[in-house]
Amino acid sequence: MAEIFRQARPALSEEMALAEGIRALKLALGPELLILTHHYQRQEIVALGDYRGDSFGLSQRAAANPEARFIVFCGVHFMAESAAILAQPQQIVQIPDLKAGCRMADMVDLEQVEMAWTELTEIIDVETMVPIVYMNSDASLKAFCGRRGGLVCTSANARAAMAWGFGQGEKVFFFPDQHLGRNTGNRLKLWPEEMIVWNPEKPLGGNRPEDIRRARLILWDGHCHVHTRFQVEHVLKMKEAFPDAKLVVHPECTQEVVALADACGSTGFIANYVKEAPPGSTIIVGTEINLVSRLALEFPDREVLELHYSLCPNMFKIDLAKLLWTLENLGSVNVITIPEDLKAEARLALRRMLNLST
Ligand code: 13P
Ligand code: SF4
Repeated sequence: MAEIFRQARPALSEEMALAEGIRALKLALGPELLILTHHYQRQEIVALGDYRGDSFGLSQRAAANPEARFIVFCGVHFMAESAAILAQPQQIVQIPDLKAGCRMADMVDLEQVEMAWTELTEIIDVETMVPIVYMNSDASLKAFCGRRGGLVCTSANARAAMAWGFGQGEKVFFFPDQHLGRNTGNRLKLWPEEMIVWNPEKPLGGNRPEDIRRARLILWDGHCHVHTRFQVEHVLKMKEAFPDAKLVVHPECTQEVVALADACGSTGFIANYVKEAPPGSTIIVGTEINLVSRLALEFPDREVLELHYSLCPNMFKIDLAKLLWTLENLGSVNVITIPEDLKAEARLALRRMLNLST
């Protein structure tokens, strides 16, 4: 945990002045301004937000606050983009750093998915395959799913989304996170041989035609480096040191790590799991370090421990100086814009997700 305090930060007085400036602008703007913060944001950013949450909760907030003229999204680009897709036409969505991306989202693009679809058309009837894209993706991929009768999911509703997909068709094409996809397939009791991985670098994704015909779930070969860093050996080491502890992890972890956990869910689920844990208990958490550190601070009467140190460098790009600069330039800097036709199709896929009952 000590490493988090070694992360570069401005001097305390400078930090206080920046926070003061942000608070003053918030006060002046009142309900015209909505600051959304993801659970992986730094503590000082979360403290200044109007709502904090997981990607699903924040997308709901973005869709449900039409009175806010300006939405400032403290998170990564795909989250701000989803908020912009769901927002009303008069609302403006900004992100304090346009370079706050997501390495997993960058593991797939529309051209690759169109190519995979074309290749699959040679082997199976793609009309019976439902595309499901993880929220961690570009708007063009959400639009692809909107066009093709699929939907978006987050880690909070992946199970409901996949069950919905299997209700609509025989196969599900899930991208880009193979681990969330596989963990969800496991929860739906799919057999390992019913799940194949699609590697976009190889012909037929590296699969034989008979494997594709047999598969029910096709998983894109993508992953989150923040969560695949957690290894079985970390779990074994922590369990040995803290035999009575509970382990909760995010579903972007590998299935081997998830199998050893007591619980698995979205960042919102993890925050709630720690909140509901009895005082005096020990909880080991396998997710991004800023959330783990904050939970440890918020619940001093229980021991909250990191499974292993893992920081999302993109989430960490948002800081007080960038947030203040964005608020000083509302409506003009780092505005998220999406072409209208793309927006309509992407909104369809996001709306299907919001209408799922989880
Ligand atoms: P949540 O949807 O659980 O907030 O997760 C988003 C994310 O990027 C996890 O790495
Ligand atoms: Fe992307 Fe992983 Fe960072 Fe989440 S933690 S934003 S999936 S890189």
